[in-house]
Amino acid sequence: MLEELKNIKTSVESRLNEVKTLEDLNELKVKALGRKGDITLILKRLKDIPPEQRVEVGKFANEVKASLERMIEEKARELKKLELDLRLMAETIDVTLPGLPLIKGRKHPLTQVIDEIRDIFTSMGFAVAEGPEIESDYYNFEALNIPKEHPARDMQDSFYITEEILLRTHTSPVQVRTMEKMAPQIPVKIIVPGRVYRRDDDATHSPMFHQIEGLVIDERITFAHLKGTLMLFAQKVFGEDVKVRYRPSFFPFTEPSAEMDISCVMCKGEGCRVCSYTGWLEILGAGMVNPRVLEYGGYDPEKVSGFAFGMGVERIAMLKYGINDLRLFFENDKRFLTQF
Ligand code: DAH
Repeated sequence: MLEELKNIKTSVESRLNEVKTLEDLNELKVKALGRKGDITLILKRLKDIPPEQRVEVGKFANEVKASLERMIEEKARELKKLELDLRLMAETIDVTLPGLPLIKGRKHPLTQVIDEIRDIFTSMGFAVAEGPEIESDYYNFEALNIPKEHPARDMQDSFYITEEILLRTHTSPVQVRTMEKMAPQIPVKIIVPGRVYRRDDDATHSPMFHQIEGLVIDERITFAHLKGTLMLFAQKVFGEDVKVRYRPSFFPFTEPSAEMDISCVMCKGEGCRVCSYTGWLEILGAGMVNPRVLEYGGYDPEKVSGFAFGMGVERIAMLKYGINDLRLFFENDKRFLTQF
């Protein structure tokens, strides 16, 4: 039995060197020292051997048991430390690595264009006014001298909520809304950026788009003021050497009415596909405020006069950046948006 005990001891010792995990170690511990382990089995057999040997074998068995327990304990500590070291190594954070760059947002290209145009006009002393996108028939049409059944309404087919309430088709209703608030004070010098809605949908028309309206009312305002103001605007947006021309037009809320063209930004007036080989691009509608509209707004057309204009923001942005499909503005595709 002494021999057996020695064998158990050496075998456990040599296996200890091979053990790599705490689980394996526990298995080894159970096999040697557990309730049905090798040592326990020997201790159980002690009663069967002659008493004179029993003391010696018993003593030795306990020594072996104690020494194995110590060795296993020691190994367990070693393995635990190793496991911790490995984990620490795997979870190391290198605080000297550069951080991940924060992706900065930016303004939508249309917002950038609106901001630029707004800055040009506010630097000329214009204030910024706003109005509701859900508008009444009265402000959208009636007070702008577009009575019911007027053919001019066809050009601005809208989204109706009721007979009398619709999504505004242009920013012009804010002209009368502002006049009502200010009359009879002068001067009125406002621009009105905002969303407008029409039943259109193709590469150059979207059911929702943006306009910037302008309105100036004061004593003795003439078409010369209109031309001077819009010339400066065109030069600031499209460059000093841009040329401007006016064509007669019709809007019920202005008299006379005109459309302003700029020399083509692509070909500088030579003629190209963008300007349909005319050398000119239509950029906005404008005119002298119709006396009836002044009256609707509470002003006396005998005392004051005014000019007004309205432009489409998408169109200006498309020309400025050479974009050929307006829908790109509304698709939220980062590949497009990050270019601005
Ligand atoms: N409201 C017009 C439109 O949406 C644009 C316009 C033309 C506005 C002439 C004006 C103006 O203020 O004077 O088609």
